Amino acid sequence: MQKKYVLILTLIGIIALAGLTAYAQEDIEFVEDSGFTTNTRPLPAFMHDEHNEKAGIEDCIECHHVYDKAGNRLEDESSEDQECSECHGAEGDEYPMELVRRYHMNCRGCHQAEKAGPVTCGTCHVRAQ
Ligand code: HEC
Ligand code: HEC
Ligand code: HEC
Ligand code: HEC
Repeated sequence: MQKKYVLILTLIGIIALAGLTAYAQEDIEFVEDSGFTTNTRPLPAFMHDEHNEKAGIEDCIECHHVYDKAGNRLEDESSEDQECSECHGAEGDEYPMELVRRYHMNCRGCHQAEKAGPVTCGTCHVRAQ
């Protein structure tokens, strides 16, 4: 009886681990925020870890930020376990323009400021995936 339990628990553990690693950030190749139920453009290319390494972004909170009520970014808190849409998708909005705006401000904004990385529509929203 007890052996059976151990076996079942082990199996559950293995399945849970497999699930976790399947969604690790090093596997991300596109931004695919579930805040969009329909996509009118091809998903933007984004090799998560490789991108951040090449771009020299050391701090996760450059994108996965948390702010306090006064509007100050907290330097020791990360929202890496949340999708951007959890805070920037206007709730109940069938097509959240606010979320589009935030993504573009973050991604294209930095590329423009640093004069590196794609800024035209088709270089992020790459056809033929
Ligand atoms: C340039 C912006 C940016 C930086 C810097 C960044 N991330 Fe992300 N991260 C994203 C985006 C965009 C997504 C995908 C959001 C989506 O598709 O919903 C994501 C997704 C994730 C996920 C979710 C994985 C999943 O599939 O559910 C984790 C975990 C994560 N990032 C961790 C980190 C950690 C840890 C760091 C710092 C070492 C980091 N990120 C730095 C933008 C960034
Ligand atoms: C936990 C909630 C939360 C999450 C998750 C979150 N944000 Fe934010 N974000 C905020 C708050 C709060 C502000 C500051 C107030 C404001 O501008 O609305 C902000 C500000 C911003 C800004 C304007 C200031 C700046 O830093 O440039 C952009 C752009 C932005 N977020 C994009 C993103 C993107 C892209 C993601 C996902 C990688 C994300 N946010 C994830 C809450 C969040
Ligand atoms: C804080 C600055 C910053 C942010 C935020 C940022 N990028 Fe970049 N990105 C860069 C830089 C710098 C490069 C050029 C890297 C190089 O030298 O090749 C780059 C390059 C790229 C490239 C070219 C291919 C590659 O991986 O080098 C793509 C595609 C890209 N970024 C997509 C995105 C997307 C999508 C987001 C938002 C989720 C984003 N970037 C957010 C700085 C940033
Ligand atoms: C730096 C990269 C980048 C550039 C340049 C860029 N986008 Fe985006 N765009 C994104 C990201 C990231 C998202 C979030 C996509 C998601 O999660 O599905 C997005 C979302 C969108 C969406 C909402 C999702 C959809 O498919 O309907 C539209 C529409 C869009 N972009 C249009 C444009 C247009 C038009 C241009 C040129 C004027 C442009 N984008 C330039 C990165 C970029």
